[in-house]
Amino acid sequence: MGMNLVILGPPGAGKGTQAVRLAQAFSLRHLSSGDLLRAERARGSELGKKAAEYMDAGKLVPDEIIIGAVLAQLSSLGDKAGLLLDGFPRTVAQAESLDKALAEAGKRVDAVPALAVPDEMILDRITGRRTCPRCNAVYHVKTLPPAQEGICDADGTALVQRPDDTAEVVKQRLDAYHRQTAPLEAYYRKKGLLVEVDGSLEMDAVFRALSKAVRRRLGME
Ligand code: AP5
Repeated sequence: MGMNLVILGPPGAGKGTQAVRLAQAFSLRHLSSGDLLRAERARGSELGKKAAEYMDAGKLVPDEIIIGAVLAQLSSLGDKAGLLLDGFPRTVAQAESLDKALAEAGKRVDAVPALAVPDEMILDRITGRRTCPRCNAVYHVKTLPPAQEGICDADGTALVQRPDDTAEVVKQRLDAYHRQTAPLEAYYRKKGLLVEVDGSLEMDAVFRALSKAVRRRLGME
């Protein structure tokens, strides 16, 4: 049975960027609640339609909608996969539901790396982000440009800017983060699971620090 990690951090902190690399390094399944919701929107499902208005306003999708959707995806992954959760949980109620669901399957959260990035850096990271609507690969116009401008390196799809990546919506998302998600740090610190990492460094340096912190937390070094 694999281990289960939750990556925390403000919007645009680099959770998705680092989650892809960590999942590969530790052989985990990467589950992003934001990608799940965007896929539902693209399919035009009821869940996607309900989530859209909250997402575009920079607000959290209500717990009664997101908890069921993420836990259903979790249980569909089966027992063997270790998990790397990115974007979920985002409220204390979500964290409690996750603990309960994992406990019922004889599992638990093993470590919670948290990326610290000051608010002043967030706007630049988010407004420069470009994503691939097909494979979810993430680029940045300055810090991680694709080989050909506007085109995904992996599959040649035209890159897009997320509708919630505007300066006004980012303000709302940061506000939601500070009010509703930041309290999770205390929740996981109390359980001895939180590992704090400086997310303001360049990507490779953040990855090295994260991997080291997770290994140490799990007694792997
Ligand atoms: P979600 O998709 O989860 O967005 P988020 O948390 O705001 O995080 P982001 O995807 O914006 O950023 P990230 O930390 O992954 O950064 P990235 O690696 O891309 O959620 C979107 C919405 O869905 C929410 O607002 C909410 O409405 C809803 N939602 C989702 N989950 C929910 C839940 N559990 N409950 C309720 N509602 C939910 O990096 C950002 C940019 O910076 C990229 O361009 C990247 O290339 C660049 N970059 C990354 N690291 C570095 C670095 N070290 N140096 C320089 N540039 C870097």
